[in-house]
Amino acid sequence: MRHLLSISDLDDNDLRHLVRRGAEFSAGTVSPAEPLHGRVVGIYFRKTSTRTRTAFSAGALRLGARIVGFGPDDLQENTGETVEDTAAVLSGMLDVLVARTAGSQAELALFAEQRRMAVVNAMSAAEHPTQALTDLTTMTRRFGDVGGLRVLYVGEGNNTASALALALCRFPDTELHLRTPPGYGLDARFLHEAEVYAKRGGARVVERHDMTDLPPVDVVYTTRWQTTGTTKPDPDWRTVFAPFQVDGAVLDTSPDAVFMHDLPAHRGEEVTAEVLDGRASIAFAQAENKYHSARAVLEWCSG
Ligand code: CP
Repeated sequence: MRHLLSISDLDDNDLRHLVRRGAEFSAGTVSPAEPLHGRVVGIYFRKTSTRTRTAFSAGALRLGARIVGFGPDDLQENTGETVEDTAAVLSGMLDVLVARTAGSQAELALFAEQRRMAVVNAMSAAEHPTQALTDLTTMTRRFGDVGGLRVLYVGEGNNTASALALALCRFPDTELHLRTPPGYGLDARFLHEAEVYAKRGGARVVERHDMTDLPPVDVVYTTRWQTTGTTKPDPDWRTVFAPFQVDGAVLDTSPDAVFMHDLPAHRGEEVTAEVLDGRASIAFAQAENKYHSARAVLEWCSG
């Protein structure tokens, strides 16, 4: 039984195993088996989700588990029951809890304090680790290896960006170029942690707040401007974000690059329809890889 609350929880071997295993599921090279037969997986989503919730639900069912779903209004947490009490009760009945709280890492850590039920972070305010595993799985499928890849990430330094930074910089000779709107950059803690990882393996992580002098890359990545579960207090935030749209001109700076997006997308905001639906886009293969990567995570968490 193992928890996945943050990419930082994974040692290098586990990170590489999860990416490789996700790619094997994606390639269809894993023999059909039901390693979770007899297990029960709780799927607890307090925030909206199309991909992650379905990926973990379908993944658990395909691996032979049964699932129990909880929506935002279902648990007695809503009426004041503590996280500790909730976790103590659920851990006596479930083998794995996949939780999108969109709250703090500290809350997830409370869920994980018990020793009977694995807890998977399906997106917190700070980090979206299963998205990063999907992203690296997708890069592995496309390029054969993550090592040496150059990625341009354009958009808010949100939970997708932090998990991507923590994961990508663990692979040797990678480059992560973050172009985040001023005032919406990556949390300094994550940037520092990614820089420490990067230094170890000859990788680079660089953040800027403009869209000039874009470097040549293998992957152009963006995320929607309104991160799930968040609001922006500045009423003029769209003006700040407008220069950070990924359009044909951005893609032309790296003519051989693929385009990735964690989805959901808003065509005409963070990305043009021409790019999202164009030849370079692998965003929908990436979305399907959420399912393949979820199976790798569930298998790993369940030992
Ligand atoms: N990318 C992602 O997490 O999608 P959902 O919010 O639909 O799960």
